[in-house]
Amino acid sequence: MNSDKPLHILKADHFDRPFLEYICKLTDHIRRLDKTKDGLMYLRGLLAHRRAMLYFTQPSTRTFLSFQSACQILGIATSEIRDSSTSSERKGESAEDSLRTFSSYVDLIIMRTPIPGFCDKIAASLDETPRPVPIINAGSGPDQHPTQAVLDIYTLMRSFRTSGGIDGKTFMMVGDLKRGRTIRSLSLLLSYFDDVKIIFSSPPLYRIDAALKDKLHRGKLKFVETADFEEVLPTADAIYMTRVQDEYDTVKGESAAIDSSKYHLNYEHLSLLKKDCVIMHPLPRRGELDQKIDSDPRAKYWRQERNGMWTRAALITKVLGVDEHILLPEL
Ligand code: NCD
Repeated sequence: MNSDKPLHILKADHFDRPFLEYICKLTDHIRRLDKTKDGLMYLRGLLAHRRAMLYFTQPSTRTFLSFQSACQILGIATSEIRDSSTSSERKGESAEDSLRTFSSYVDLIIMRTPIPGFCDKIAASLDETPRPVPIINAGSGPDQHPTQAVLDIYTLMRSFRTSGGIDGKTFMMVGDLKRGRTIRSLSLLLSYFDDVKIIFSSPPLYRIDAALKDKLHRGKLKFVETADFEEVLPTADAIYMTRVQDEYDTVKGESAAIDSSKYHLNYEHLSLLKKDCVIMHPLPRRGELDQKIDSDPRAKYWRQERNGMWTRAALITKVLGVDEHILLPEL
């Protein structure tokens, strides 16, 4: 990367294993600092001179709140647009011009958009201006969700810390794999680890797309696709459940016509799972993940959700160049 250009977080393809391990280490340090008032005040002073824009033109609860909370932890003041109909886009301004406008006022833009590839486009065009600012992709249509994948990796690393880490594990990804950006980004990150296997389990019409398959074929990861669900549950070290992404239906009722009920994880399935199996879900969930599972120790999705705040704080310190200060104080 050109050294005068900011570090953007745009897609999982841009990361590598040392980067992920470094972010996870930063995340651990931030979590520990956050436990004491002195630690918290230290964190809050780190970026108190910085401002960030949260531009979320697609619905979001936890990604928005976890980024906002991450900014608060680091002392960053935030502004937000959550609905482009309340901005000058309503007056006909292009989204590109709106984003260039934000770059006049803030030091970081965190954006969620329904348009695949849009974050990359904005990052590239701002890089050509006198005031380039870093862009963090908080979800770009059905395309990518790189920061979700980083928090998923952190959750997996912590869950497997006494059982040899992520290497050698078998992952099951379930649901709408065709339009799910979380599984796309996470699969790419898992391909940086050794001897990993992914079992993609979905209705035939929700199988992973050709572009992801192609990328995975080029890596060292092994994967299989199956319409089986119950049969493969006992082989998984981790199960990543996802919901049907019907907001991307191109024909009305498209998703409703597909029976996904065979791919729901129910309380009754728990007895089939490995005793240390890690159950994850990016949330929000619908019927695919039984609420009765929440109290099982293998359910990690609420922890996963909270980990999002810490890992996003870690990513922001890296993007804004204060990461080394996180590692400085003796903890
Ligand atoms: C996911 C997303 O937005 O892609 N949610 C999230 O960010 N935690 C998953 C989803 O909406 O299904």
